[in-house]
Amino acid sequence: MDKLIVRGGSPLIGELTVSGSKNTALPLMSAALLTDGPVTIHHVPNLRDVTTFRRVIEVTGTTTHHDPATSTLTLDATNLTKYEAPYELVKRMRASFYMLGALLGRGGKAKVSLPGGCAWGPRPVDLHIQGMKALGAEIDLDRGYVVAHAPGGRLQGGRVRFEPSSVGATINVLLAAVLAKGESVLENAAIEPDVVEFCTMLRAMGARIEGLGTRTLHVQGVDQLNPVTYSNCPDRIELGTFMIAAAITGVPGSPITIRHARIDHLGDAFLEAFARTGAELEIGENLIKVTAPNELRPVSVKTDIYPGFPTDLQAQWTVLLAKAAGNSKVRETIYPDRFKHVPELHRMGVNAIVVGDEVVIEGGKPIQGTNVMSTDLRASVSLVLAGMIAEGETHVQRVYHLDRGYEKIEEKLSAAGIDIERVSYDEWADPA
Ligand code: UD1
Repeated sequence: MDKLIVRGGSPLIGELTVSGSKNTALPLMSAALLTDGPVTIHHVPNLRDVTTFRRVIEVTGTTTHHDPATSTLTLDATNLTKYEAPYELVKRMRASFYMLGALLGRGGKAKVSLPGGCAWGPRPVDLHIQGMKALGAEIDLDRGYVVAHAPGGRLQGGRVRFEPSSVGATINVLLAAVLAKGESVLENAAIEPDVVEFCTMLRAMGARIEGLGTRTLHVQGVDQLNPVTYSNCPDRIELGTFMIAAAITGVPGSPITIRHARIDHLGDAFLEAFARTGAELEIGENLIKVTAPNELRPVSVKTDIYPGFPTDLQAQWTVLLAKAAGNSKVRETIYPDRFKHVPELHRMGVNAIVVGDEVVIEGGKPIQGTNVMSTDLRASVSLVLAGMIAEGETHVQRVYHLDRGYEKIEEKLSAAGIDIERVSYDEWADPA
């Protein structure tokens, strides 16, 4: 297994470049199953989640080829014959459940494993299943699998309301709806940039979707979609993570440039909170510059759906608050149990306690390097950030979580002045 060793205290200097979005690449890949012929997607990051999803897709008979050097992924579903997504692969990544909508849309049938829970609690898929039923699918649960089919081989379309608004369910139902016979209306649809980007690619393939970026999407089913070449957008969560890194470890007065940045994808709540910390933000074309303040102000936040503060940035924000001068709170409204990073930060000397769906943080205390354990993707990057401002060495173990969603993180950070290296270790070795 690999761990990252971070030696704290080196300032971040120079530049960082954001990779293509993970959470957008996955639905874009699913869209390729809806057509025959090669679909090419640019800016696909070389990440474990992308590789996992390629494996899931390949089970169907679809071919995939990823060139990490050019970040280009090609998929060809011409020979798609198997309408299944097995447990062994789906359990590795929840987004594999997009296969339900993709296969139902493509051929009116699907057998997809239920994904199960995740590290920070239950994550249901009831809205995905209700949505498919509303479009006309008949669904059975059989030994952990969702077995779905469209009577007559093609879905009819229908009216779906998501409560709460769900990124994944909106994407899954869209995958099924764009090739249905009739019209579908998706109410309280997610408006996250990932969904808008996905709809834009579907439209480029010939899908008829109206209402992009609004809570109501109207889909007129079409008989076929066409292969397309599409450029994925930059990763907004990586951008937010880098902005936080710059604010906590940058040199006051020396801006850090972050390239391939879509600042408009972050949402107002994050940008407002960021400005209130005292960090300065200069927005250029496709890049931003962040200047760290002399003293970070504590800014309490509450996560929410877009354009609210992203839940995928709350663990990183907690680390920023641990450095800020004063006390603050982070409230989590999307996943109330998503605080697995807090006990690890506690081990580093961060005075933070979880009370219900909130974490209360006493800022400004010294942070000490030690051994800490990654538990999930965003928690692990928060431990790397904490290591960057800690005294001494932090060993972030089980970085396979980090590798799901951050491309070459240690290479990017070390090129920007951070003392960080990846080493292999034996997790079960006795202490020397
Ligand atoms: C996506 C992101 C994830 C991010 C999350 C919230 C991907 C691959 N993952 O996850 O990184 O943290 O959005 O921004 O893009 N819900 C239900 N029933 C359902 C589905 C969801 O009750 O069938 C609830 C969830 O428990 C949660 C809320 O809806 O409270 C939003 O979750 P959702 O938007 O679906 O998250 P994901 O798409 O799984």
